Amino acid sequence: MSTDTDIADIKEVVKEKYGAAALRVTSGSSGCCGSATNATGCTDPITSNLYNVSQAGEVPEEALLASLGCGNPTALAQLRPGEIVLDLGSGGGIDVLLSARRVGPNGKAYGLDMTDEMLALALENQRKSGIKNVEFLKGEIEHIPMRDNSVDVVISNCVINLSGDKDRVLREAFRVLKPGGRFAVADVVVRGEVPVEIRRNMELWAGCVAGALNDYDYVAKLARAGFDGIDIEPTRVSTEDDARQFLAGADVDIDRVAPQVAGKFISAFIRAAKPAAKESRGPACCG
Ligand SMILES: C[S@@+](CC[C@H](N)C(=O)[O-])C[C@H]1O[C@@H](n2cnc3c(N)ncnc32)[C@H](O)[C@@H]1O
Repeated sequence: MSTDTDIADIKEVVKEKYGAAALRVTSGSSGCCGSATNATGCTDPITSNLYNVSQAGEVPEEALLASLGCGNPTALAQLRPGEIVLDLGSGGGIDVLLSARRVGPNGKAYGLDMTDEMLALALENQRKSGIKNVEFLKGEIEHIPMRDNSVDVVISNCVINLSGDKDRVLREAFRVLKPGGRFAVADVVVRGEVPVEIRRNMELWAGCVAGALNDYDYVAKLARAGFDGIDIEPTRVSTEDDARQFLAGADVDIDRVAPQVAGKFISAFIRAAKPAAKESRGPACCG
């Protein structure tokens, strides 16, 4: 994304798509992250089969149905009792609820989302779960409404690819993390070049594909924001068949484009850390 207008446009498209997805879940069908069109629920290759049976049993079924992610950040983030967790783009709230269980009553899990319908769905899922140590905030991940150095772990599930200003998102994540805090995010990343007609397609941007960063750009942007210990671990590599599914309904020539992108879109787990504060040894001289 280049201009402020482009960024505002993409935000509106994303809000509209995920508002509609939340309403579909409320009315009893499921949604998905990767598909360009998904009016009737889906078996999307990016979104399906992310949570195991024991995790599924920890949250209401509706929270699982509302899952639109591309990974399972709470399984990989190693959350500890008492920690403060923030989920960027919390959607129907599944990762917030799972995090709240992991950090226990002395910890807290916050979810941040800009889409009213998603926030309503998340609050309903929290009510059904009975989990108390949770708060959902309305706002944008580019302007996180939280204090500096207030969070132990920033998680996110298939959301940063949707932002038109990823540098700003990563700077904000860095700002709110405490020194030593962890960034533990599932996202779609790209390995290699993808056709420009995919990059320019708004539907595919809202479907978590067109806005995905190249892996080396992700690493560079995290480093520029101040993070260290950066690692990108692939969790699933999209095949040509997957590409055919997530391109379905977008205005592209699927038979030509799908073979070109096979193996290039990867669901990944991205880890990084905010450097710990240097230990103060007191004044260098006495008197
Ligand atoms: C693909 S869904 C993922 C939802 C959730 N993380 C999950 O795993 O089910 C993307 C979510 O991010 C939210 N979102 C996208 N861009 C955002 C932004 N710039 N600021 C805040 N929320 C955003 C959308 O409203 C939507 O709920």
